[in-house]
Amino acid sequence: MTSLFTCDASITIDSHLDEAHERGLADDVLDGLTRPFKELPPKHFYDERGCELFDAICELPEYYPTRTERALLQAHAVEIARETGAVELVELGSGSASKTRVLLDAMAADGGPGLTRYIPLDVAESVVRASAEALVTEYPGLLVHGVVGDFERHLSRIPRADGEQRRIVALLGGTIGNFPPGSRRRLLREIGELLGPEDRLLLGTGLVIDTPTLEAAYDDSAGVTAEFNRNVLAVVNRELDADFPLDGFSHIAFFDRQHEWIEMRLRALRPCSVLIGALGLRVEVAAGEEIRTEISAKFTRERVEEDYAAAGLRLDAWYEDADARFALSLAGRVS
Ligand code: SAH
Ligand code: TRP
Repeated sequence: MTSLFTCDASITIDSHLDEAHERGLADDVLDGLTRPFKELPPKHFYDERGCELFDAICELPEYYPTRTERALLQAHAVEIARETGAVELVELGSGSASKTRVLLDAMAADGGPGLTRYIPLDVAESVVRASAEALVTEYPGLLVHGVVGDFERHLSRIPRADGEQRRIVALLGGTIGNFPPGSRRRLLREIGELLGPEDRLLLGTGLVIDTPTLEAAYDDSAGVTAEFNRNVLAVVNRELDADFPLDGFSHIAFFDRQHEWIEMRLRALRPCSVLIGALGLRVEVAAGEEIRTEISAKFTRERVEEDYAAAGLRLDAWYEDADARFALSLAGRVS
């Protein structure tokens, strides 16, 4: 672990990642691009440019999840803070933490449980640092302990205070849907293992809705999502000395009704022979061949409850918007 330098005594940042190597980029590229159906895991989207593009996606008229989840938090954060009595917030895949403030406000409000510490964990160091710096200014007295790491590998590094500080562990934005079912349940189980008896998981999940609305959210008319998707090729080019032609790939997003997930792919517009210098690997991509870059599963309440049960968790509260597009749920560990 490296402790990163900060200027403010309220901020601690630990990093468990040593550049792209530790993110597993080389292994993922070798594994994912030498398969018959090529694939790249989604965590590699999020370099600095990727984080900026993701924030831009969140503002798009077609991308309803962010504003729907924010409205749900605005409607229920006070109740969530009161019911959980949490004074610490751990956030996995915290990004720019824009919706987080609604929860922090409710915890810090008069009559709320009080707010002592915020612990963001994200693979992207830039967003952990920027949100830590902004939040200690906005919330005087707040401690921020940022963790730069991979939530599939570094959950055990999340700091735990002595004593019985109640916590909320939040995983927002539908990020849980970016994992295929087996990994999703494993991740939920590992998160459950972080929870004390009074702690709660706060999970944001997109719900199954009509296909046109879903597909537009992942294929916007301004082309921001397309640029975000292609950015993963720019990351591979830069980090692994590769030569993917970014203009040689088009963005595809479709709702797979059978699996109930959105699938994102990059389709080669022409044949290309790509050299991945750092791996000494040549990858041939045929015209029309597709690389899967992400899934985003959509849920029903029953599906969430089944996943919780399989992970040793119990649903405590369920909040969804009037159009049933998105849900927040609270879950505790089954003792
Ligand atoms: N929670 C925010 C951001 C969601 S985007 C919101 O709801 O708007 C997903 C975030 O998770 C990104 O900031 C990305 O860097 C981070 N992320 C993706 N995969 C990760 C992983 N394996 N470990 C840690 N962070 C990850
Ligand atoms: N967690 C977000 C989601 O599933 C991530 C996301 C939104 C995303 N739009 C995207 C990932 C476009 C890749 C491409 O909604």
